[in-house]
Amino acid sequence: MEQLVQQIANYKQEIGAFEATTAEAVEAFRIKYLGTKGLVKQVMGEMKNVPNEQKKAFGQILNEFKEFAENKYTSLKEQTEAAGDTHIQQIDWSLPGDPVAVGTRHPLSIVRNQMIGIFRRLGFAVAEGPEIEDDWHNFGAMNLPEDHPARDMQDTFYIHQNPDWLLRTHTSSVQARIMEQQKPPIRVICPGRVYRNETISARAHCFFHQVEGLYVDENVSFADLKQTLYFFVQEMFGREVKVRFRPSYFPFTEPSAEMDISCQICGGSGCNICKHTGWVEILGSGMVHPKVLENFGIDSNRYTGFAFGMGVERITQLKYQVNDLRLYSQNDVRFLKQFTGAL
Ligand code: PHE
Repeated sequence: MEQLVQQIANYKQEIGAFEATTAEAVEAFRIKYLGTKGLVKQVMGEMKNVPNEQKKAFGQILNEFKEFAENKYTSLKEQTEAAGDTHIQQIDWSLPGDPVAVGTRHPLSIVRNQMIGIFRRLGFAVAEGPEIEDDWHNFGAMNLPEDHPARDMQDTFYIHQNPDWLLRTHTSSVQARIMEQQKPPIRVICPGRVYRNETISARAHCFFHQVEGLYVDENVSFADLKQTLYFFVQEMFGREVKVRFRPSYFPFTEPSAEMDISCQICGGSGCNICKHTGWVEILGSGMVHPKVLENFGIDSNRYTGFAFGMGVERITQLKYQVNDLRLYSQNDVRFLKQFTGAL
């Protein structure tokens, strides 16, 4: 019994000297001394070995010991919580946070989305297709048979494994795939990346982006083509923009025309971008060639259609005055972040 009392006194000393600065240490204290397998429980278990006449006195010592450990636990807890509070008070909540770099949309994506938005309002659906195409969808079906000289205008990259495969030169290939699957009325625009075998410079690149459009129905006329494209440029560049059509040649349209708009950089007075003419070409267009319709089993006596195709880079250049095509794909953040805040 005396030994036990001595032991308890030692434990009390140990407990009294216990220090804790973290919540984990306080929890460790609780487990060690007050837990179900803790020291206090263990010492209590000694009661059964104490002779009856001493039980009362020993009981008192035990209760005191238990209370001592519990009080120590409460005060340790209060101390660490208070310390935690002062830690929180030391944080200056008014300081600005660490900046998180927010990405922006690429200028070509911004302009492409605007273009799609305008045509959507006119009832055009959006269609996409593969960038690796076969000869038929890119050229053959578009009335550009093999050895046709117009293929020179759109030289591309061929794929070794299969001479029939190539990187599409225009998204007219998507129009071909649509006409293959759907019957008129057809009203689609085809945004996407296209490829040309060109030497890279400020004005040419081996790939660029297009939005092409196709409208096939009964009684579609050249007047519809003109009005649709005029509406488009007014929405894109504002009411003041002027347009002009020049006769042109594409194997898949007849008649064909290129459309110019008044130069958005100099307002028409002449600059480098418009080569001092006041006009900038922005797209090719025309009435779909009857042979193209027939290639897809569309009756060209009943249906007519118009088609157009334009480069997203060109439209972006005019909208944001970017004068080097290479900037679009160099991934220079100083260039890209200038478009922060644009849609
Ligand atoms: N496919 C042509 C090109 O990429 C553009 C175009 C489309 C012209 C539709 C006329 C009609 O150059």
